Amino acid sequence: MKRCRRIYLDNNATTPLCPESVKAMRCVDSKFGNASSHHCYGFEAHDLIAKARDKMVRLLGCSPHELIFTSCATESNNLAIQGWCRKVKGQLSLLYTPIEHPSVFNPIRAMVRLEPKRITRHHIRVLPTGRVDLCQLRFLLSHSRGKKLVCVILANHELGTLQDIRDIAQLVHKHKGWLHSDCTQAVGKLTINLHELGVDSASFSAHKFNGPKGIGGLFVRHNLQKKLDQLMFGGNQEWLLRPGTEGVSAIVGMAKALEVCVRRKFDWAHSHQLRQQLLAGLYAHQCDIPNFRVNGGMQSLPGTVSLSFEHVDANKLVMYLNEHGICISRGSACKAASKTGSNVLDAIDLPEAYRKGTIRVGIGRYNTPAHIRRILALLVGYLKKQPKKRRQRRK
Ligand SMILES: Cc1ncc(COP(=O)(O)O)c(C=O)c1O
Repeated sequence: MKRCRRIYLDNNATTPLCPESVKAMRCVDSKFGNASSHHCYGFEAHDLIAKARDKMVRLLGCSPHELIFTSCATESNNLAIQGWCRKVKGQLSLLYTPIEHPSVFNPIRAMVRLEPKRITRHHIRVLPTGRVDLCQLRFLLSHSRGKKLVCVILANHELGTLQDIRDIAQLVHKHKGWLHSDCTQAVGKLTINLHELGVDSASFSAHKFNGPKGIGGLFVRHNLQKKLDQLMFGGNQEWLLRPGTEGVSAIVGMAKALEVCVRRKFDWAHSHQLRQQLLAGLYAHQCDIPNFRVNGGMQSLPGTVSLSFEHVDANKLVMYLNEHGICISRGSACKAASKTGSNVLDAIDLPEAYRKGTIRVGIGRYNTPAHIRRILALLVGYLKKQPKKRRQRRK
């Protein structure tokens, strides 16, 4: 790699730890007690967790007893899905969009494999923008058997598409179903009020909002925790649903990171402006570069840009940008090593000619207009050298 300044534009994969979170964690480093111990060290740790929990629930619009600390969003999604399937008796239907993260669709597949006669799964169709087809969801809810768990990702990790979760929640509740939403990409990037969203459970992860890695949470609406089975057995932390000694400093760091995100709401507008700058720059050169599409529709996360270039090899493009210090990705980091390609791009019916040419730019708090100018210059320079197929005239 050439010696050049690195520019990080992969903020959907993970985000840099913010200094405020680092400072908060340093302050509690010496408070090493086990929160379950009945002495002053234990009380101190217990108090720190209680304060962090209070802060988080205030920011997320829920109550302290509705928030379970976990190690990450993957664990939270597993706890919600597996926990529900194990606890709820009788015939079950699992309904989910084909654009879910692997930490949602893989536990669903595992549950069906385990009990194929009792548990069935159904795909909820999405439109080419990635938005849920509500008519088809209505149909599925009326025609699927037994008790229903519906999983809909609030903000998609590859496209940035946002769902009308409130409308979906109403529909699911009309059919007495449970709505789980993977909110991992949305928390810290949008105003979230979990009660107002109407979801029954929701997952998130601190490293997506400038907090530490290895800590996340699961929201479970009041009174519904009894409908989840624990996945691990041990102590009675986190209402028995997530045993194990709590990671006090990570919890404190996560609460601080979320507080900073909400305080700095202007960052969201900033990310949106940089997104517009990138798109405007590309459109200004559209005559000289291969045809391209902006995926994900109008209702999208402020800093997520999914672009597909016709007959371009995105692997080579990502490598080229990396050699010049620009860090972006082709899509989900969790699927980067996979040979099966993107379930998300399959679901939105992206034409074949664009499939291999899809990249994701994840703009975050620390990006600047100069970063966008730099990626634009490199992108356009690279793309101008690619053969441009003339757009087919519509007859
Ligand atoms: C939408 C979504 N859900 C879940 C996850 C998993 O998060 P974690 O790495 O915290 O397990 C990710 C991470 O890429 C994600 O983007």
